[in-house]
Amino acid sequence: MEDTNLFTLSTLLFLLFPLAASSTEPLLSTAADTLTDAGFLSMALTLRLASPSLTLHPADSATVFVPPNAAFIRSGPLPLSLLQYHILPNRLPLQYLSSLQPNTPLPTLLPNSSLTITFSSFNKLSVNDVVVSTTPVFDDGSLLLLEIEDFFNSSSLQELESEPAPTNAETFAAVTEVLKSNGCSVMASFLDAQLYTEFGDGRKFTILAPLDEAFAVDAVSVRNMSDYSVIFRKHVVPKLIRWRDLIRLPNKTLLPTFSDGFEINVTVSPKRRFLNGVLVAVPDMFRGDLVVVHGIHGLLDSSRA
Ligand SMILES: *[C@@H]1O[C@H](CO)[C@@H](O)[C@H](O)[C@H]1NC(C)=O
Ligand SMILES: *[C@@H]1O[C@H](CO)[C@@H](O)[C@H](O)[C@H]1NC(C)=O
Ligand SMILES: *[C@@H]1O[C@H](CO)[C@@H](O)[C@H](O)[C@H]1NC(C)=O
Ligand SMILES: *[C@@H]1O[C@H](CO)[C@@H](O)[C@H](O)[C@H]1NC(C)=O
Ligand SMILES: *[C@@H]1O[C@H](CO)[C@@H](O)[C@H](O)[C@H]1NC(C)=O
Repeated sequence: MEDTNLFTLSTLLFLLFPLAASSTEPLLSTAADTLTDAGFLSMALTLRLASPSLTLHPADSATVFVPPNAAFIRSGPLPLSLLQYHILPNRLPLQYLSSLQPNTPLPTLLPNSSLTITFSSFNKLSVNDVVVSTTPVFDDGSLLLLEIEDFFNSSSLQELESEPAPTNAETFAAVTEVLKSNGCSVMASFLDAQLYTEFGDGRKFTILAPLDEAFAVDAVSVRNMSDYSVIFRKHVVPKLIRWRDLIRLPNKTLLPTFSDGFEINVTVSPKRRFLNGVLVAVPDMFRGDLVVVHGIHGLLDSSRA
């Protein structure tokens, strides 16, 4: 146990410090801010949290294809590789894109993988058979953000979903990956450290995963590993609550957690749900038979000194 804690602590320190550095990537940070303002919250979060893993050469130019929030709710999160497939390593003017012949490849950040123009005319464009809006969400001459109707190659995600039901260990490994690729690495490292030993007995549960940023902001008030452990237990509900269950709960429903006496208060507002006042930002980030994960904007226990 001692060793696990030390390992996790060093993982956490490692994870928390690069976070501060990641915000220095101005282009992706501009993209994330702009998308947040324009209502593309899921893509904004995805970009913000993946930005330490994305490398742009040159660093000041990109074209990003932006799927709507509905695509994330339909297909789940964008894994890092598929996210890279939505980014071109330079800004291609829209007029130029629209002038390209069908079958023209567009190299992306995903190594050796190109998107393909499938239709182009002066006012209609599709790439990999997905319609691209010809009204940019944003274009400042170095960064171009273009809305698309769905993920590129979303069917590659559905293939993953229809694989046979995984065992506990496979489920936890998958949850860990999903948490990491959605910028919830701190929660992921707790899952590794605690879940196998404590929760790995076939019980069903729901993880409410704060983004790493929430821990970074709060890092000063988190003193030691047992603090982290307490925080983790407050973010796990001992039953399976999918988004479609969550939206049916009456206003002010109280949910129990693995932390004795700590309850989560569900507040209902149109199309959104707040847990102890914290917005559910990425519903059904992971949805399995044993585990469901929702991404949330902050820590549930804001009263902690
Ligand atoms: C991409 O292609 C190059 C040249 O064909 C090859 O050397 C490299 O290993 C490939 N990279 C990946 C990630 O497949
Ligand atoms: C996306 O789909 C196209 C068409 O099926 C395929 O050629 C391409 O390799 C796929 N790309 C990725 C990254 O999966
Ligand atoms: C960790 O912090 C908690 C409360 O903040 C305190 O009760 C506990 O003694 C601390 N443990 C260690 C090992 O410092
Ligand atoms: C739950 O939250 C609502 C709104 O913040 C508040 O009115 C209500 O008293 C809370 N209920 C409990 C039991 O904390
Ligand atoms: C839920 O309760 C909160 C706190 O009392 C209130 O502000 C909110 O309007 C309620 N929502 C609905 C849909 O009634």
